[in-house]
Amino acid sequence: MKIIVTGGAGFIGGNFVHYMLAKHPSYRIICLDLLTYAGNMETLAPVVGHENFTFVKGDIADRAFIYQLFETEKPDIIVNFAAESHVDRSIEDPEIFLQTNVIGTSVLLDACKKYSIKRFHQVSTDEVYGDLPLDRLDLFFTEETPLHTSSPYSASKASADLLVQAYHRTFKLPVTISRCSNNYGSYHFPEKLIPLMIANALNDKKLPVYGTGDNVRDWLYVEDHCSAIDLIIHNGRIGEVYNVGGHNERTNLEVVKTIIRELGKDENLIQYVTDRPGHDRRYAIDPTKIKTELGWEPATLFDEGIKKTIKWYLDNKAWWERIISGEYQSYYEKMYADR
Ligand SMILES: NC(=O)c1ccc[n+]([C@@H]2O[C@H](COP(=O)([O-])OP(=O)(O)OC[C@H]3O[C@@H](n4cnc5c(N)ncnc54)[C@H](O)[C@@H]3O)[C@@H](O)[C@H]2O)c1
Repeated sequence: MKIIVTGGAGFIGGNFVHYMLAKHPSYRIICLDLLTYAGNMETLAPVVGHENFTFVKGDIADRAFIYQLFETEKPDIIVNFAAESHVDRSIEDPEIFLQTNVIGTSVLLDACKKYSIKRFHQVSTDEVYGDLPLDRLDLFFTEETPLHTSSPYSASKASADLLVQAYHRTFKLPVTISRCSNNYGSYHFPEKLIPLMIANALNDKKLPVYGTGDNVRDWLYVEDHCSAIDLIIHNGRIGEVYNVGGHNERTNLEVVKTIIRELGKDENLIQYVTDRPGHDRRYAIDPTKIKTELGWEPATLFDEGIKKTIKWYLDNKAWWERIISGEYQSYYEKMYADR
């Protein structure tokens, strides 16, 4: 089995590469990544040199390059993680989100059609459903919930999601889609909530919390996301969408306070900053379909997963300190200086 993993130098893609090489020692994994600001070869350092692993630098939106890669490698499965993924960046500069998330996905779909690939799996997000009110804890996103996006990021992901479904309906392309809640765990770029708070708290820097911090996210330990995708690409029904989440809802403030407590820091590090425009209030996944059809359940609940994640950031300071000291710094200043 030969799998092209796009975006494999990023957070979830990188974890997926590690997971698949360990779980399926006979599979060949080709990681295709443009190495944007979010791509980090150090995430892949443990597998570089592995006999079943190859890294290829390139853009999923570069048609000639993608066709050449498919021609040469003749992959069985494509798992598409490659994306611009940060909501705040999409508010600053939406165009690159359309280029990578929409055009890039369409190029991959065309390549899958041209080379008769056995399976294209799209890694989508629960953000395509928009948000839920904070005072209706009985409501959850199911696969039937209408798409209703809030940010340029989620709009671009929803567009890609719909294109994937259209290629299945029109061209009978063998596709599957997963829509996942917020991930956390190792190799998470320190601009996202959990790694940002861990890194700042360790450096005794302020912990910027948007608004009042009462927005709710349904947290999924990244290895559980990897196990879900592994199941879907092997046993998921063609043309189907699977929601992936594990009823681990926490407010952003609860998450930040947990990190402070675990690190033995003081809550006066918390700094409330101007809310994100259009900030989604609550995400909550109903994972009944993947549970009943594929037998998937998350193995790691939040209270355990956050401890493991904090330990990883303590044990791997060099990984995130090098990110923080680079170009990331000017971006950070721009996003938080005036709030
Ligand atoms: N992080 C989450 O909580 C979450 C939740 C649900 C869904 N998702 C989805 O999962 C996927 C991975 O998310 P992530 O958090 O790992 O993102 P990430 O930003 O950490 O990684 C994205 C990777 O894609 C690469 N990339 C960007 N543009 C590219 C291009 N044009 N061609 C090739 N590679 C390119 C980057 O270099 C990077 O390595 C995304 O599609 C995202 O929408 C993420």
